[in-house]
Amino acid sequence: MIARLVRSRLAIVASLAVLGTSCTGGNSDADSTDPDVVGGLSPIGAENETAAQAEIRASLAGMVESLYLPGTPNGQVVEVDLIAAETTIDLVPDAPTKVWAYNGSVPGPQIDVPLGDTVRLTLQNDLASPTSIHWHGIRVPEDMDGVPGLSQAAVAPGESFTYSFTPPDRGTYWYHSHTLGSEQLDRGLYGAIVVADPAEADLFDVDVVWTIDDWLLGDEGQIVEGFFDNHVAMHHGRRGELLTANGDPENTLRVPPGARVRLRLINASNGRWYDPDFEGLAASVIAVDGQLTSAPVALEDVTLAPGSRLDVVFDAPLTPGVHRVVDAAAGPPVTIATVVVEGDAASARGVPFEHAGVVPNWADAELLATDLELRFELGIDDDLFSRFRVNGRSYPDVEPVQLVQGRFTKIRMVNRTGLLHPIHLHGQFFKVLSRGGVPVDEPFFRETVLMESEEVIEIGIVPSDTGQWLLHCHIQEHADAGMATVAIVRPAGAPLPALRDLRAEHITAPLTEPEGDTSGEMQQLP
Ligand code: C2O
Ligand code: CU
Repeated sequence: MIARLVRSRLAIVASLAVLGTSCTGGNSDADSTDPDVVGGLSPIGAENETAAQAEIRASLAGMVESLYLPGTPNGQVVEVDLIAAETTIDLVPDAPTKVWAYNGSVPGPQIDVPLGDTVRLTLQNDLASPTSIHWHGIRVPEDMDGVPGLSQAAVAPGESFTYSFTPPDRGTYWYHSHTLGSEQLDRGLYGAIVVADPAEADLFDVDVVWTIDDWLLGDEGQIVEGFFDNHVAMHHGRRGELLTANGDPENTLRVPPGARVRLRLINASNGRWYDPDFEGLAASVIAVDGQLTSAPVALEDVTLAPGSRLDVVFDAPLTPGVHRVVDAAAGPPVTIATVVVEGDAASARGVPFEHAGVVPNWADAELLATDLELRFELGIDDDLFSRFRVNGRSYPDVEPVQLVQGRFTKIRMVNRTGLLHPIHLHGQFFKVLSRGGVPVDEPFFRETVLMESEEVIEIGIVPSDTGQWLLHCHIQEHADAGMATVAIVRPAGAPLPALRDLRAEHITAPLTEPEGDTSGEMQQLP
């Protein structure tokens, strides 16, 4: 038995080497660090900056001064009660699938919040497991952010917790468990939250959310258990073949001819990413991660990475018809959902949708030194299991990165693994500055960026919200395997706050040996 365990772990290690992954363990600072890069706990210093550079830095920060302000509560409250409990839903014929759900459905109820309203939401935990909710992409006070051990203690079985916040930015967001994500997201604990700007109401005839997930079902339509083992952790998480939009494998949207449709796509999958293709519909992207773009974005130029959102707009054709929306990310296209154009025509809009996002051009960031570096790599721990490292450490053993509110900061992210990673930062938005050393000017902000294997990406950020924020891979199995760190944002001039004892309330999934012999499969996985 022991011999088999060791052998199959070595098989994993060997295949990671095939994937081009460094898996020598530990830190390899020595070969990567620029003298002008400060990481970890070293204070961010502008000591070596010339006056001209300091001026550029200030002007880059100035370009976003009026964006990402604190929310202004209008006094209205959206009250929500969510009960997390086990239930069944229909995914396959004649075999109800056991899931964990909010208020009995997957996704949980869509929460609509007019911009300016305050959300007051009580989570009642009727599961046998601790849980918590994170408001993905919404800038909330740090004690409402839902990360056990960092923002709050997880809500124990039988207990409840009230979340209260005023979302400051309009857009498409989602909420999901942030406890034992590899299991709890996979079982169905997520839902959409839309912060609607009343000023946008007349721009669309149809405005709907599609929350997309993939399901790995086994016998009698039940979710395959064993959510977190060293095999899924060292690949791209669990991948299911059954796709659903809004919990429905055959989701159909009926729209009148000529209607202007806004589709808010949310990727709630643990690890699968999507390249949505709208057959016969001229669809383009108008918002990424909830934030409006400043120009049209082609669907081919973006990926719906785990955690992220794409808002898409199209004008339905004047001829009735059926249009599949398929995922073209890998292999033969798979239907995500269907758009049926039928009924009486809507009055045509004539003018194209106007892109209202405000997004600075930060090309001058090239003239600045990198402020800090985040290296993502693999290492093998004493128990012989591989885990991910950020700057040499696996969560919750982190060395936080420091950011200063209002200061333009350039971060280099280095993926030293052969895997893809959607890197997500809580509490702030950022912009990609370069990929593989080539400058890019994306017309949008993000809070999640999908890194290709071995890729180096630079991002620019002007931190807006002070606090201690999780930065992690959104492939749930990667995050549970240590791929997370903390970004501390403090006001300029303020001392460094004490780092929380992340271990005290942290909840981990035990890493286990995969069942059966998985060594043969390794090579075929992406
Ligand atoms: Cu949806 Cu910490 O993430
Ligand atoms: Cu990852």
